[in-house]
Amino acid sequence: MTPPRIAVLTGAGVSAGSGVPTFRDAAGSLWRQYNPQDLATPEAFQRDPVTVWEFYDWRRQLMADCQPNAAHETLAAMDAVLPDFTLVTQNIDGLHPLAGSKRILYLHGDIWNLRCTSCSYSEVNRQAPLDPLPPICPQCGEMLRPDVVWFGEALDLDILHQASVAFTLADIALVIGTSAVVYPAAQLPLNTLNRGGKLYEFNMERTPLSGLATATFLGPSEETLPRWWDERRQAWGL
Ligand code: APR
Repeated sequence: MTPPRIAVLTGAGVSAGSGVPTFRDAAGSLWRQYNPQDLATPEAFQRDPVTVWEFYDWRRQLMADCQPNAAHETLAAMDAVLPDFTLVTQNIDGLHPLAGSKRILYLHGDIWNLRCTSCSYSEVNRQAPLDPLPPICPQCGEMLRPDVVWFGEALDLDILHQASVAFTLADIALVIGTSAVVYPAAQLPLNTLNRGGKLYEFNMERTPLSGLATATFLGPSEETLPRWWDERRQAWGL
């Protein structure tokens, strides 16, 4: 039997079992006196880059010791055996590649990538804490910034297009650990449904997508996803 084409959308919930603080957890813990939504903007970086960098350096330190969980590992296993598979993530924590996933589209960037605010330089950098802070471009001497999408910034159109195509062509969409309220990410799985495909959701609770989903598996995705995959891979002879 030919294995189905699968497109996956992940959000903060897939990393909750790894202890990664979500953006909203970070907000809850009130880093200094700031509302993180006011720091994760291009305007804040322009006004006070040192404070914005200190906030990201703190988040990098919180994420540095986190390890992939069984949900990340299951997605990496699917990537390894399914010929047509795309993982689209809203997460910036880098746990999908750490688990071994290869075909990843990063909708909101990657906190372990730094890029220059002036020239085309970019680098992978896992140092936490960073020294010096803010980091400086070795190519032109200007400041580097975290390669993440801030509030008010556009998503990369090429990545969004590739994600949209993957979900449109998919036989099965998996939506894992996302509140499915942030657009355009939440729209992607509807492309699969609109072409007659199936949508399976994995979350602790019901979301705005649940009413449309073929099935919603309630519970921690580090438990529900490996179970789902074990049953399917046998049926598909994988
Ligand atoms: N397993 C599965 N789902 C979980 C788990 C778990 N162990 N723990 C929590 N969840 C679910 C929650 O029920 C919630 O629906 O994960 C979801 C997390 O939702 P959000 O915090 O809104 O995260 P996300 O959907 O990724 O947010 C999208 O918004 O804050 C911005 O840019 C940020 O990328 C982020 C975007």
